[in-house]
Amino acid sequence: MSQSLIGKTALVTGGSRGIGRTIAERLAQEGATVALTYNASKAAADEVVAAIRQAGGNAFALHADLVDAHAIAALFEELDSELVDRNGSNGLDILVNNAGNSGWGGLADASPESWDTIFAVHARAPFFVIQSALSRFVNGGRIINLSSSLGARPLPVVPIYSMAKAAINNLTHALAMELGPRRITVNAVAPGWVRTDMNAAVRENAEMVAAIEADTALGRFGETADIAAVVAFLASDQGRWITAQVIEASGGYKL
Ligand SMILES: NC(=O)c1ccc[n+]([C@@H]2O[C@H](COP(=O)([O-])OP(=O)(O)OC[C@H]3O[C@@H](n4cnc5c(N)ncnc54)[C@H](OP(=O)(O)O)[C@@H]3O)[C@@H](O)[C@H]2O)c1
Repeated sequence: MSQSLIGKTALVTGGSRGIGRTIAERLAQEGATVALTYNASKAAADEVVAAIRQAGGNAFALHADLVDAHAIAALFEELDSELVDRNGSNGLDILVNNAGNSGWGGLADASPESWDTIFAVHARAPFFVIQSALSRFVNGGRIINLSSSLGARPLPVVPIYSMAKAAINNLTHALAMELGPRRITVNAVAPGWVRTDMNAAVRENAEMVAAIEADTALGRFGETADIAAVVAFLASDQGRWITAQVIEASGGYKL
């Protein structure tokens, strides 16, 4: 690993499991001090922090239920205090909006409440987390939003999730223009199918797995490290000239 992020600070939402966990571990390996958030999985978040520290990295965990818009102010108060204790400043260099809830919702079984719950975490929270992060951001920072290939090519069985990811793609473009003068880059990474809890039920169905792999140019499910590698690149100095992009990292899904 290059240790290209020594001296940087990063906030990764939903770092207790899945893709967010691997992103948090990867950014810490690269030298960043990583704040990772969790909602229901405190024990898992503590385990990620312990694993990062065991490997010589620096991380801490913060609680935030991102269904609740008011949780964001409290999250940033805690983040400030933890960063000031460690670094003498609450400056933030990298924000990864990764948290995502499932219960994806189809047209027939959706309710206004289920729609709001999915949009709250996948679309509203990234917007307001960015709003709060901006006063902590240094010039030249990085915002990386986790989207999905479904943001551009929606899956009819999950219209709400697909809509929310389209919203994130749109936000990525809008904010890249807004924040360019501060040399803050804003990009989205759009995975296809990645082996995490989010699709555990799908992966129990051998026929569906075979169909997904047949629809993927590189012929397999993605792994969390496949996505973390792209995020680490965008977060590093190597990614400095890339902004307003939705980078699909799907192994070539449904080309
Ligand atoms: N896996 C895929 O195939 C795939 C494909 C495309 C895009 N993505 C996107 O990648 C991101 C990560 O997905 P994943 O597969 O890694 O999911 P995952 O394994 O299910 O993990 C979800 C993470 O989000 C957190 N989270 C869930 N509900 C939350 C809430 N109400 N408030 C705050 N945090 C909450 C979870 O924290 P707790 O457990 O602590 O509650 C967990 O850390 C999501 O944005 C997802 O849409 C995933």
